[in-house]
Amino acid sequence: MNILVVGGGGREHAIIKKLKENPQVGTIYALPGNGGMASDAVCVNIGAKDLEAITAFAKDPSNAVDYAVVAPDDPLVLGCVDALESIGIPCFGPRANAAIIEGSKVFSKNLMKKYGIPTAAYEVFDDMGAALSYLETAPIPTVIKADGLALGKGVIIAQTREEAKEAVVSMMQEHVFGKSGDHIVIEEFLEGPEVSVLSFTDGKTVVPMISSMDHKRAGDNDTGLNTGGMGTVAPNPYYTDAVAKECMERIFLPTMRAMNAEGRTFKGCLYFGLMITKDGPKVIEYNCRFGDPETQVVLPLLETDLLTVMQAVTNERLSEIDVKFSDKHACCVIMASEGYPVKYEKGFELTIPGDIADHVYVAGAAIKEGRLVTNGGRVLGCTAVAESLPQAIEDAYKLVDRVHFDNAFFRHDIGQRALKAFA
Ligand code: AMP
Ligand code: GLY
Repeated sequence: MNILVVGGGGREHAIIKKLKENPQVGTIYALPGNGGMASDAVCVNIGAKDLEAITAFAKDPSNAVDYAVVAPDDPLVLGCVDALESIGIPCFGPRANAAIIEGSKVFSKNLMKKYGIPTAAYEVFDDMGAALSYLETAPIPTVIKADGLALGKGVIIAQTREEAKEAVVSMMQEHVFGKSGDHIVIEEFLEGPEVSVLSFTDGKTVVPMISSMDHKRAGDNDTGLNTGGMGTVAPNPYYTDAVAKECMERIFLPTMRAMNAEGRTFKGCLYFGLMITKDGPKVIEYNCRFGDPETQVVLPLLETDLLTVMQAVTNERLSEIDVKFSDKHACCVIMASEGYPVKYEKGFELTIPGDIADHVYVAGAAIKEGRLVTNGGRVLGCTAVAESLPQAIEDAYKLVDRVHFDNAFFRHDIGQRALKAFA
């Protein structure tokens, strides 16, 4: 069986490595993939947003594509699954009408309000004057969000009224996030530990995966700019059995049912970004896809065959599968290029010793003149799995020590927040 995976980062590398554990899997094509995953997949130079080229590739009989996994948000929101299904390729991932749960914050906030799913209180604005006058009396700190996809940067937490107004002007007048800023959400600032829960859902059943904790800021001790994620651990100690039960009853099932009721059945990986507030768990955001770098700690702990689970989602038979996770712990440390997430250099030679390659998920690398070189801000993630969280952390940093490229930078405290959870 040949599988096409749309996307090219660390998340996709983790998905590909896991899919390969199934002996039935033949060739995996990564579109576009990256040079660092060339030994695991055939990388094809087609961009993840180029739906025409993706479908043409999938249709070509010489590629014999049997199944597709669409991993990133952009192609999902653009309708990549719809396009592939229309030429008869079964897919893992939501159609565009369901991917809107991530593609539009206005949509997801209104959905939660309509169906009583706990989230931060909010107002939607499409007029800058109205937004600015609302801010005259809004509680501070406050959170300003651009409506559409904004490369994970469309959220500004304003500590002062001035900062909040500047954020509104930058989104609505200066269009720093393009059309994503035509509509904005201004919402209540919530406090509490954050938990990421990825789930498999086929629209009938929702199966949460093991919980995880992201580390979004660039610097140690959660300082510096927000990034795509600098490391993760799983499970997340704040996601207790009681919290899990409450999430299932008040958030996961109601969300699945709400999407069905709206005629937007969600099939794929639905990601719940949660905050465990003193009033219980609330939704910070939905993503219509696997998280990155959450996937790099969640999938290594998955004991059930990934392809089997994905196909059960596609065929709406998820309830027939027992999805099992190991009771071990995983830690992923992201190695980035100095300067990320703002400005960084590329093209440094990258060495990953062969004996640890199975634990390294490459996000940004290319092969130039036969050498593997860095080609992105987030370059790779090193994941270790162990019996305890302290051991997983220690082992992940041992892997980091053995990978080399110039100007590498990484956080030194991945997992420390989880260790201190109930200390
Ligand atoms: P997002 O890009 O939606 O993942 O948001 C980035 C980060 O902003 C989240 O991981 C939270 O840490 C924070 N955030 C978003 N919304 C809120 C909120 N209402 N209150 C407090 N923090 C928030
Ligand atoms: N790590 C957060 C995300 O994938 O959006």
